Amino acid sequence: MKVALFSTKPYDRESFEAIDHPHEVDFFPQRLTEDSVELARGYPAVCAFANDVLGAAVIHALSEGGTEVVALRCAGCNHVDFDAVAETGMRVVHVPAYSPNAVAEHAVTLLMATNRHLLRSNRRLRDNNYGLHGLAGFDLVDKTVGVIGTGKIGTVFARILGAGFGTRVIAFDPYPNDHCREMGVEYVGIEELFQRSDVISLHCPLTDDSHHLIDAQAIARMKTGVVIVNTSRGPVIDTQAAIEGVKSGRIGGLGLDVYEHEGGLFFEDHSDEVLTDDLFARLLGFQNVVITGHQAFLTHEALDQIARQTLGNLTCIETGTACEREITPADEQAD
Ligand code: NAI
Repeated sequence: MKVALFSTKPYDRESFEAIDHPHEVDFFPQRLTEDSVELARGYPAVCAFANDVLGAAVIHALSEGGTEVVALRCAGCNHVDFDAVAETGMRVVHVPAYSPNAVAEHAVTLLMATNRHLLRSNRRLRDNNYGLHGLAGFDLVDKTVGVIGTGKIGTVFARILGAGFGTRVIAFDPYPNDHCREMGVEYVGIEELFQRSDVISLHCPLTDDSHHLIDAQAIARMKTGVVIVNTSRGPVIDTQAAIEGVKSGRIGGLGLDVYEHEGGLFFEDHSDEVLTDDLFARLLGFQNVVITGHQAFLTHEALDQIARQTLGNLTCIETGTACEREITPADEQAD
């Protein structure tokens, strides 16, 4: 199948080219948007990533250009307009589980970097300053960690924190799972989680329910000094409210791999440009906010799995075999 792969980075190309497959993949560095969608004309399949634009206009333009399949090389599909998918008959496949460990381990990295002030201490060393004032963190053992969303990634995170660090893990999920319960995770309501947690880590998808789940009211109910980690999707946190929370000291640390307005910012080199996003600039100015640019998924193992599963999905579609990683508009409505 002829595939136009958008938002190509060198690591995407390497992982796709390392695999033997029957498809003809053309690599486009451009992000898929209304402006670039014309590049996909004549390609029966398009491969897109998390920050490609798959709103109604792009889906209709893809359909008019002959595209029949959108193969997402990511888990989240919150950026796809499924009404337009239903109208056009487009098929959408994704990669729901390439490496939950990659993301969960990165969430732990952000937590530890924030708690132990790694960026600040590293900056000091480069300035020949070995003073330790202001660098005290806290032991995680016996602290309460609140996990929001105990699916594949949240479960691994809960295991690492509970079994590895000896924390008490509490969780909120509308669909609790037995595996977490067996590990000793205590499911609680969201209010109780906000009130009891020393650390809160977000692992839920972005939906209407989770949009701005962490807003000013939620932050006001949290413990003073709470550390919040977000590797899920940016809009789960109301950024302005989080900034106010850091300024007031209610939030003691923020570890972010995703950002509410990251589209068009993350994944690209903007070093020759002026940063025009004032909210993001404010976040960058805090000593106790550690940010990575949506790299939680980026391990060699995950990249290999993403490429393998994406190509496998396309083979299923081409050969008419049922594809277990297909998302239909009906699935989306059921969520
Ligand atoms: P999953 O589908 O296995 O688990 C999601 C869990 O969240 C489910 O148990 C579900 O019941 C729960 N949930 C749904 N709505 C909720 C709500 N309002 N509040 C609390 N829990 C809720 O998904 P998985 O694989 O664990 O991924 C979680 C999210 O992580 C993805 O949706 C995606 O947005 C994000 N992600 C981020 C990556 C990164 O590189 N930063 C990479 C991969 C995923």
